[in-house]
This record gives sequence, structure tokens and C-alpha cells, in this order.
Amino acid sequence: MVLNGKNILLVITGGIAAYKALDLIRRLRERGGVIRCVMTKGAKEFITPLSVQALCENPVMDDLFNLTQEDEIGHIRLSRAADLVIVAPASADFLAKMAHGLADDLASAVLLANNKPLLVAPAMNPHMWAHPATRRNVEQLKGDGVFFIGPETGEMAERNEAGTGRLSEPLTIVQAAEDLLTAPKRSCLPKLEGKKILITAGPTHEPIDPVRYIANRSSGKQGYALAEVCVEAGAAVTLISGPVNLAPPDGLVLKKVETASEMLQAVKDSLPADIAIMAAAVADWRVDKVAMDKIKKGEEGYVAPLFLSENPDILKTLCAMENRPSLVVGFAAETEKILEYAQIKLSKKGADMIVANNVAPKSFGGIGVMGGDRNIVHLVTADGHESWKEMTKNDVAKRLVTVLAEKI
Ligand code: PMT
Repeated sequence: MVLNGKNILLVITGGIAAYKALDLIRRLRERGGVIRCVMTKGAKEFITPLSVQALCENPVMDDLFNLTQEDEIGHIRLSRAADLVIVAPASADFLAKMAHGLADDLASAVLLANNKPLLVAPAMNPHMWAHPATRRNVEQLKGDGVFFIGPETGEMAERNEAGTGRLSEPLTIVQAAEDLLTAPKRSCLPKLEGKKILITAGPTHEPIDPVRYIANRSSGKQGYALAEVCVEAGAAVTLISGPVNLAPPDGLVLKKVETASEMLQAVKDSLPADIAIMAAAVADWRVDKVAMDKIKKGEEGYVAPLFLSENPDILKTLCAMENRPSLVVGFAAETEKILEYAQIKLSKKGADMIVANNVAPKSFGGIGVMGGDRNIVHLVTADGHESWKEMTKNDVAKRLVTVLAEKI
């Protein structure tokens, strides 16, 4: 267990999502983490210090000017004793304080004095998250080396409010904490300075009529993880993304597309490149004639036929181009005969490498790669294959980028 014996300082700030911090404490402790908590005044309006203390089995700290707390633990020692600091939920107000280095309460003072990895899980109303002031604060914090998880997109606690602002689920935050504690340091990442990398990610949506489309379950997480690692490794990255609910990593060129044809055009427009990684789950077919109006249901029992045409194969087209990148990596999403089909794709499409993964959902015996946070991949080349153990998509990205950096 990655968290076994690790000291985690959890800062809980004010917001309706504060109740999820209670479950987060449980989850972190289940994995062996030793948890100390600091609560802001706002947090105590939503959950009680008593509940927090009962779950973490350590005194809760909340007062910078409390002589007993400061004498026994001290705001500097809180950070020094921790292996990792997590802020969850992080309110818009607290992000603003952090970004500006304010230290007028215990939570903000601890963070200003912090010298440990810091993971922040924001939660707020979508308009607050989208507000230019919050965007500036988040950019500032990312630039300061703060790691972010979420927020997620969905329904908010307030009635009739939906968008990006939900706190990530406790297990997702735990996973991010584990990743942070096991991640290689930036300096250990491969060096890709001066290299231009083209990455496709997410599904494509092929319209049927103005309101319906053909799609698949790709979330874009694997492709976005690759993009993030390539940026960290110093590459100039162009990320061509189908419709996903993910915040793009900083420091890259993002091109948003809907359909396979648009993705192909964006790929062509983004050349030349040194490396191309095609992680997108491109729809194999599109509807022949997209209806200009919503198709009506018709008589009972009537089923409207859909006539499909094959979409362009972006990977194959790219591999055959004159200005083909020196290294082209395709993915293979299979539910059976994984290696066999991956080898066929390698030669049929003309890629240098295929990353094969089993995309069977959990209900079909898979690990739920599409949409999930973990993956099991096999690296298939003309020389054979290498199977990697199950790991996070982020770790797959780091390992794959390391391989590519050695080959380019
Ligand atoms: O997005 P996530 O939820 O994180 O899930 C990750 C993933 C499962 C989508 C990813 O790991 C993955 O496997 N991506 C490739 C999905 C896919 O479409 O596989 P395929 O076997 O159908 O296609 C093989 C390759 O050809 C892929 O590189 C694909 O991008 C490419 N392709 C496919 C069809 C097409 N018309 N054009 C293409 O370029």
C-alpha cells in the first residue's frame, strides 16, 4: 500500500462538498495513511470538528492563535511532519488566498509555510470555477507547482445548477495522492525538449441528426495523461481532442474536434511533427446522410434505418503521408485476441508501435479502461511485444513517453 505509514495533512475548507472530506479521511486511512486535519472557519459551518477528529483519530487544528495547539503542534511542524498535503474541498476563496500568499488563519499559514507536495481538490459553483479571477488563481498555483485533481463536471448540490465544479470522488483523490507519492520527480522524466508531439484523444461524435450522434465510451483520460507528460518532458505538444469533460493540461496547443473527418483535418494541419500518438477512439463509421431535422419516431414498431459509411482511418493516412512523423504510435482497443489483433493493426496501418489494451467493461470481465483511471497495456512492435502490469493511465503515459524518448 503506497500510503502505508505516510503522514497526510488534510486541509478542509468551507463548502457543501466538505462532507465528502469525511469519506476521504476513511479512504486514506483504509490505505494506511496517518491523517491530521486542519479546518477553516468555513469548513466548520458544514461539518463538525468532532466528526473529523473521530474519523482521523487525531486532534483537529483550526486556530492559528490557540496557544495549546500552537505549542503542541505548531503550524510549521504540521507541514514538516507531513509527506503530502491535501486541500479538499478547496473553495474559490481559499484558492484566491493561496494564490496571493495570504496567511491570516491556520490553514493558509500552514500552506504558506509548506515545503511538501501539495494536492488541491477544488469544489465550487461552476460560475465561480469559470470566473476569470479563479482561472488566474489556478494558473498561478499550477505555476507554483501545486497539483490539481478535478473539479469534475456534473450536477451541483444547488438546484438547477450543473457544470464543472464538483469535488472529485474521494477514491479519485486517493488515487491522485498515491500517484503523487510514487511519481518520478520532474527531473526523472525523459527529456523531449525541441520535439513536437501530436496527440489525439477522446471519442469522436458522428451526427445522426441535429440532436443525436454515434459515439463510444472513451473519456480522453489516457490521451490527456500522455499530453500532460509530454509537456512536462519539455515537448511542444498539440492535443487534438474529441468531445470530453476534461480540463486540458497547461502549456499545449489544444484543437477541439467533433467528428473523425474533423480530427483527420486537424492532424494534417498540425504537421510536421516528430512523434504522433493516436490515443483517440475514432468512430469507425459515420452516418451517410445526416438529417437536417430531428428524425421523428414514426409509427409504433417502425425502426428508422441508419446507413453508415466507413470513416477515414486517420492513423493509416498519417503513416502513409510524405511528411509522416518519425515515430507514429497507434493504440488498439480490443475485447479479445488483444495481441493478435494489435499485430495486424501494426502492419496494416503502418505504425511503428501499437499500444494494445483490453477495453472490455467491468461487466464483461475487463478493468473498465474506457472512462476509468487505470490501464493494462501491451507494447507491440515489429520485434515482438512487452506486457506491462496494471497501473494508472498517468503511469502508462510516463512509461510510454520514456520509451519514445529513447527511440526518437
Ligand atoms: O479515453 P479513455 O477513456 O482514457 O480510454 C482510453 C482508450 C481505450 C480510448 C485508449 O487507450 C485507446 O485504446 N485508444 C484507441 C481506441 C481505438 O479507436 O482503437 P482502434 O483499435 O479502433 O483503432 C486503432 C488505432 O487506429 C487507434 O490508434 C485509433 O486512434 C486509430 N484510428 C481508428 C479508426 C479510425 N477511423 N482512425 C484512426 O486513426
